[in-house]
Amino acid sequence: MSIFSSLDPAPRDPILGMTEAFNADPAPEKVNLGVGVYLDETGKTPLMAAVRAVEQDLATRERPRGYLPIDGMPAFKAPVQALVFGENSPAVLAGRVATMQTLAGTGALRVGAGLLMLASPDATVMLSDPTWENHELLFSRAGFALERYRYYDRATGAVDVEGMLDDLAHAAPGTIVVLHACCHNPTGSDLAPEDWDRVVATLVEKGLVPFVDMAYQGLSVGVDEDRYAVTALAESGIPFVVANSFSKTFGLYGERIGAVHFVCSDAAEAARVLSQAKTVVRAMYSNPPTQGAAIVSAILTTPELRALWEQELAAMKDRIKQMRVEFRSGLEARGVTSDLEFVTAQAGMFTYSGLSLEQMQRLRSEFHVYGLDSGRLCIAAMNQRNMGIVVGAVAEVMKG
Ligand code: LMR
Repeated sequence: MSIFSSLDPAPRDPILGMTEAFNADPAPEKVNLGVGVYLDETGKTPLMAAVRAVEQDLATRERPRGYLPIDGMPAFKAPVQALVFGENSPAVLAGRVATMQTLAGTGALRVGAGLLMLASPDATVMLSDPTWENHELLFSRAGFALERYRYYDRATGAVDVEGMLDDLAHAAPGTIVVLHACCHNPTGSDLAPEDWDRVVATLVEKGLVPFVDMAYQGLSVGVDEDRYAVTALAESGIPFVVANSFSKTFGLYGERIGAVHFVCSDAAEAARVLSQAKTVVRAMYSNPPTQGAAIVSAILTTPELRALWEQELAAMKDRIKQMRVEFRSGLEARGVTSDLEFVTAQAGMFTYSGLSLEQMQRLRSEFHVYGLDSGRLCIAAMNQRNMGIVVGAVAEVMKG
């Protein structure tokens, strides 16, 4: 008898497992629209010019690799806080924000969950319906009971704002509410600023604990506009958590670079929270790696590189928008008559196609086009070369 004999095989990860299935597919023509990775016109994950410039510069220096502090590279914190909360954020200036470098957005969520488990072990975590598949695994493995709030209205393809507000209004005080700052994953349907104002007012009134996941800052409208939820919450004065990632926005997926921010009541509380969050990290992976933090902090603090990065990010956003237009018109040209307005209305890397599980399975088995079982397709992986295959396959499946 082995210690491990009680373990059944785990189901394949709904997102990264799809890449495994894609890699194992021997078909010569196949398209991976499963995982949320931006690919350029040539089908490659681009190395951004701003990143390459920093890496070339770093390569010329002698850089011994001692341990970073548990909470990350000191030079990384201030520019990242300015990016996430805006320049001269009153909350940051008051010392109310405890920031830690993390292993990308997932690491930020996990460290945030670990700290919240210390602070409020009996709290429930409320997720949007639907949400990023990994939220469920992550928060339940951290030890929380989960609930859902209404979010996406399948009939209209828009956010069910009234349903969301109603569910939040009935949540127990102290409930942790996971919110997507922009480019909602998987639906691509976001709250408008005036909706955020109402959501924030309800969170404040009901004593709820917002946990904002911001993995796509700059890929919806712009770097400044996309932090609306974060600044509105900071202005409200309530404590909350933000997880941000540099995977998509800097193309640094494999560097695992992101940050978690605990917005506290005052500076003394922020210091206590930081000390506890360090114990969470120390018990999991001790301290974070160097390269991603060195790249991000250099780009954010060097004006020419910052401008270059913003330009490149805007070009990525625009290319995705163009792919939405081509995907939609391609389907229409192939005789899909249902309303496809949602394709161009949604924001971010995904389109939530409305295709059923059976239709998504057919896309894979018959056409070797891989999306998620939820119907999510990664628009950011479409390009002029694969568009014909993709629209041909999706149109066939949509028409039944
Ligand atoms: C996604 O949603 O596909 C990305 O965030 C990648 C991941 O880790 O799931």
